Amino acid sequence: MANQRDEQRLALQGGLKAVSKIEGKGKPKIGVAEFMSVAERFGFSRRTLKQIRSAVARDDMGAGPFLSNYYANLKETKVQAFERAAREVFGVKYAIGVSSGTGALHAAFVAAGVGPGTEVICPAIGFFATAAAVVMSKGIPVFCDVDESLSMDPTKIERLITRRTVALAPTCVMGTVPDMGGIMRIARKHKLKVIEDCAQSCGGKYRGRWVGTIGDLGCFSISGYKIVGGGEGGLLLTNRKRLWERANQLMECGGLWRPVRFAPPRYKGELFCGTNYRMSELEAAVDVVQLRKMPATVKRFRTVKMRILKQLGRYGEVVPQRLNDPDGEVGYLLRFYPETVELGRRIVEALNAEGVSASMRRKDAHPDWHQYSYMFPVTLKTGPTPVNCPYECPVYLRRGGRAAYAREDCPVADDLFDRVITVSLNQWFTAADCRHVAKGIDKVLSAYCTEDPDAAEWIRSKAG
Ligand SMILES: Cc1ncc(COP(=O)(O)O)c(C=O)c1O
Repeated sequence: MANQRDEQRLALQGGLKAVSKIEGKGKPKIGVAEFMSVAERFGFSRRTLKQIRSAVARDDMGAGPFLSNYYANLKETKVQAFERAAREVFGVKYAIGVSSGTGALHAAFVAAGVGPGTEVICPAIGFFATAAAVVMSKGIPVFCDVDESLSMDPTKIERLITRRTVALAPTCVMGTVPDMGGIMRIARKHKLKVIEDCAQSCGGKYRGRWVGTIGDLGCFSISGYKIVGGGEGGLLLTNRKRLWERANQLMECGGLWRPVRFAPPRYKGELFCGTNYRMSELEAAVDVVQLRKMPATVKRFRTVKMRILKQLGRYGEVVPQRLNDPDGEVGYLLRFYPETVELGRRIVEALNAEGVSASMRRKDAHPDWHQYSYMFPVTLKTGPTPVNCPYECPVYLRRGGRAAYAREDCPVADDLFDRVITVSLNQWFTAADCRHVAKGIDKVLSAYCTEDPDAAEWIRSKAG
């Protein structure tokens, strides 16, 4: 029996410890219920869910999982496994899993030196996040018109380059690839960085090279809407160590990524304040599997699209979307331009009646943030405070910059965006499905247009 003196004496001096054991017993922070709530989102049947529940409920979870990228007592976390898979699949030196495509773009722009007083040339058609990430980096987006591929038109870039321009940010539009040859030539000539936004074309290739590996940095959204994705996530690729380090510093400002976390800066510009765009382990667990499936998914989509295109006749009143690299297409959409919006409306109606899923925007449609003139927080030049950074940033003004946006800035985009007809394709179409879809398109086009063997071909690359 411990006497009172032993209890009072400091444990340091041989007395009894005040706290010899903790009686309260915790439960895992993340347990069966949370696991099941994730499993429910995968669409398993009720019967299967019941079986899964009874199987996992039998397990003693101990302290439960620790779902963090850093500190996990594992040889490789899920995020690290995802980054390794990305390096292997895309053949690049560096990959960073991040929480969103927007986060990847923000980190890439900052890594590339976008900041006060700089401009980045963005495509007129793509997605708002590209231009928004430029603004988040304190740069000014300048919109470049598109060509009939709906991607940035390389012939229109040079006239937009100023002494403030530091980067080009071509976007892969809806499963297609930009003319990366033309874009890279201009970038190298003017010593500009290229940040590829490949969110809509993960798995696309240009002349045999994966999009996202051609420029200086490649950015992907891997949200649930994309070809690869668990729910909400992003990926950044580069072959350049300095850019990888700077992107890490932005997306994970605590510097946890550094070999020696609190070491002084190893070079000028290494350390600066960033934010936290870390990917979650739960997202990475899905993405690592999805990414490995990506090449097969893309191959199925591409086969379906090419199969359909090869069966189509040629018609005078419609022009197919130009494909900068037909062999590199992801191909989940088939697109073409009718001569007029009115003709387009009739074609779309008839296609849907035939069972071919088709759509067109039309002039009177609601705003759409895939086109520059609807990117209101950019075009209205509204910053979060009255100082209105970066649009009225003194550094920008001193360098002669004047941000100005108007709908007519990019007339080809204005026209094609309203007129393009989009047919949605499914990677699981069989050869017979492709035949039926092609027949449906031909049936409708022969009813409303003139067959013309000299009209533009469906598989039409830049040279074609
Ligand atoms: C071209 C493009 N860039 C960036 C993004 C933004 O990605 P996230 O939603 O993952 O931030 C998207 C998302 O749709 C996109 O299509």
